[in-house]
Amino acid sequence: MNKFILLIALAFLSCKSNEKTVTPTGLVSNKAMVVSAREEASEIGVAIMKKGGNAFDAMVATELALAVAHPQAGNIGGGGFMVFRKANGETGSIDYREKAPMAASKDMFLDKNGNVIEGKSTQTALASGIPGTIAGIFEVHKKYGSLPMSEILKPVIALAERGVIITKHQAESLNNNRETFIKRNGRNSLFSKVYKENDTIKYTALAATLQRIAKNGRDEFYSGETAQKLVAFLAKKGGNATLEDFQKYQAKWRTPITFQYKKLKITSMSPPSSGGICLNQIMKMIEPYNLSQMGHNSLKTIQVITEAERRAYADRNFYLGDPDFVKLPIKELLSPSYLEKRMKDFSFDAASKSSDIAAGEIKGYESNQTTHYSIVDAAGNAISATTTLNDNYGSKLYCDELGFFLNNQMDDFSAKPGVPNLYGLTGSEANSIAPEKRMLSSMTPTIVEKDGKLYMVVGTPGGSTIITSVLQTILNVYEFGLSMQEAVNAPRFHHQWLPDEITFEPNSFSKEVLENLKKKSYIINEKDKEIIGQVDAVLVLPNGKLEGGADRRGDNKAVGF
Ligand code: DON
Repeated sequence: MNKFILLIALAFLSCKSNEKTVTPTGLVSNKAMVVSAREEASEIGVAIMKKGGNAFDAMVATELALAVAHPQAGNIGGGGFMVFRKANGETGSIDYREKAPMAASKDMFLDKNGNVIEGKSTQTALASGIPGTIAGIFEVHKKYGSLPMSEILKPVIALAERGVIITKHQAESLNNNRETFIKRNGRNSLFSKVYKENDTIKYTALAATLQRIAKNGRDEFYSGETAQKLVAFLAKKGGNATLEDFQKYQAKWRTPITFQYKKLKITSMSPPSSGGICLNQIMKMIEPYNLSQMGHNSLKTIQVITEAERRAYADRNFYLGDPDFVKLPIKELLSPSYLEKRMKDFSFDAASKSSDIAAGEIKGYESNQTTHYSIVDAAGNAISATTTLNDNYGSKLYCDELGFFLNNQMDDFSAKPGVPNLYGLTGSEANSIAPEKRMLSSMTPTIVEKDGKLYMVVGTPGGSTIITSVLQTILNVYEFGLSMQEAVNAPRFHHQWLPDEITFEPNSFSKEVLENLKKKSYIINEKDKEIIGQVDAVLVLPNGKLEGGADRRGDNKAVGF
């Protein structure tokens, strides 16, 4: 009898430990929340919902407010991806990724000897793909919006006119880039001036562009005055985009990648982002291991995750590209038997070698910016969106007349098989440049359900590290029992097959664990990249309230009501 009671008690306790109550440490709100890279953008998204707008209206507002308040990544001169889950459980996603202009060609970034010309895919007018952001938000609004576009744009335009106060982070970033802005845009350009913390930048030209978009709609950007001025600007700077490229641009609804991880259902971005597929592969490869028992950031946990990441990125770089152009073996890559086989040669005794999994050479990282925001509205609709100019301030070409930076997303193509891009990622034929093709992305806007209900909205910038930061954030909450804010704050690590090394946030991991990894032949990099992503996430708490996770690594802010 005693034994029986003990068994029941044990069963109860083990159930309990899975579902243990975690005290939130981030902002908690009752109904709705926006977490984004800037307080001004989160405030505007929330204001739209307070006015009766839904999460889709808030998305439009937040995306554009970031274009004003967070110019290094927020944009109308770039593109992105959005994954949604409506309160009724319906999920979907939209691709507003940039496209290569029709004049683009496979070897456009190579010299006559077939070598990649340094900087051509990142620092010139040829680096820009045709921007998708305006097409994306109008498409979302047409299908799911509830407030008139003019009303959604009003507070964004007001912000641009009123101006935005420069934060400490931003002042540093502007200072670091000023010389390049001057070189690229001349001394009189808006961003060529000297700014310090607490100064205000007024975005008068951007406000006027947004006014015209409010008045004339999507066509303003793709065939109207803005399109014509932009094409002329790019041509003057040596670009190859034509008005026809703009007229032909369309955002695309895509079926997201969905999969089960234990009790969670994960919905994430499908190609042309590699995010969903990679996340799916990694999570399925680690699922058989008892991570919560191994412990958060413990030796064994880091080994399992690293080895799964190594294998997934090797596949990514070889197989993935724009699904409208190349046939992707998605079913095969995600098949349980394939993934099981893939981990067969992993042992806790020693590191696998990337050169045994596939071959390649790689160079270091640079510091970059994209931006992610997560939204939940009072009805329970959820939005996860990641948007980017690629590098910090994109190509750094700023069109003063229209008031925005142009992306350098063309660098996300594989300029030459095996030659690494900005993020050290190599690619293959699947991601080679072709007219009107979309470049492969790592952006991973993700929505997680538990027991059929909304559980988490998550995403981050960080180039190639995006996928692994999203992964760790989900695991931090689900496997390791951290609050949403703690999960976002926790130090992160990253492996991407090549270079064959694990990047750790410096000075944040146990020395003993790092030493033990070295003993097992892992190469440790604590220097090249001091931060890994800036995760902005929302967790639905057991009582239905929302906890925000706004990354401490920037000016990120959760706002809710
Ligand atoms: O689409 C991609 O994967 C990259 N262009 C994202 C760039 C990025 O995240 C830069 N941010 N840190």
